[in-house]
Amino acid sequence: MERRKQLAAVAHYTAEKLGADRTGHGMDHIHRVVKMAKRIAVGEGVDPFLPMVAAYLHDTIDEKLVADVDQAKDELADFLQQTGFQTDEVTQLVAILGQISFAHTLEGPVKLTQLGQIVRDADWLDAIGAIGITRAVYYGGAHHEKIYDPAIPPRQKMSKEEYRNLNDETIINHFTEKLLHLERMMCTTTAQKIAAHRQQVMRDFLAEFHAEWDAEK
Ligand code: ADP
Ligand code: NI
Repeated sequence: MERRKQLAAVAHYTAEKLGADRTGHGMDHIHRVVKMAKRIAVGEGVDPFLPMVAAYLHDTIDEKLVADVDQAKDELADFLQQTGFQTDEVTQLVAILGQISFAHTLEGPVKLTQLGQIVRDADWLDAIGAIGITRAVYYGGAHHEKIYDPAIPPRQKMSKEEYRNLNDETIINHFTEKLLHLERMMCTTTAQKIAAHRQQVMRDFLAEFHAEWDAEK
């Protein structure tokens, strides 16, 4: 099968799985991550085809979005095989998809292939900057988090379970607990450069937020 047709089939597969998502992992997120994975791959001198495929699929076997991860993996592997992907491509794709979520890094060091690095960087770039601010507010609102509470200190070292435990979480603390760490955790040089700008956008936002909170501005 032509690569263009393979990409279209993969996009369709993801749309079927995530099209109805309202948790911030819908198709708008996927399309941004695909575009960014392409940009990073080109920046790193890598063929963008597999990074784009992996970007389309990156949330389709995520434990927070599917009920049974092993079943989702098997289904995905079957689909990829039927869509004409080589066995080694299927193995590479399925292997990295379980590794890219931030929650995974809280369990210990994660060793990624270059393909995994590109897709994780692309996914994480969508969690920072202006889009990242919007997604954090959207997620926090959907989960009934407080906007901010100076009496609740940000958590320092979180386990994966603590990260998913939203009692006493605030939207502003989520920046200190996660979003401000992502820049230094980017793997590719291309993503590090993009992250530097987005980090500054978040820092400016937080400075403004605190100044307005204290009625200083
Ligand atoms: P990942 O796929 O890397 O595990 P998540 O599902 O944890 O990402 O996050 C999805 C989006 O929601 C991200 O933009 C993330 O920063 C945001 N988010 C996650 N947890 C919180 C939280 N407790 N408060 C506000 N936003 C959050
Ligand atoms: Ni994602």
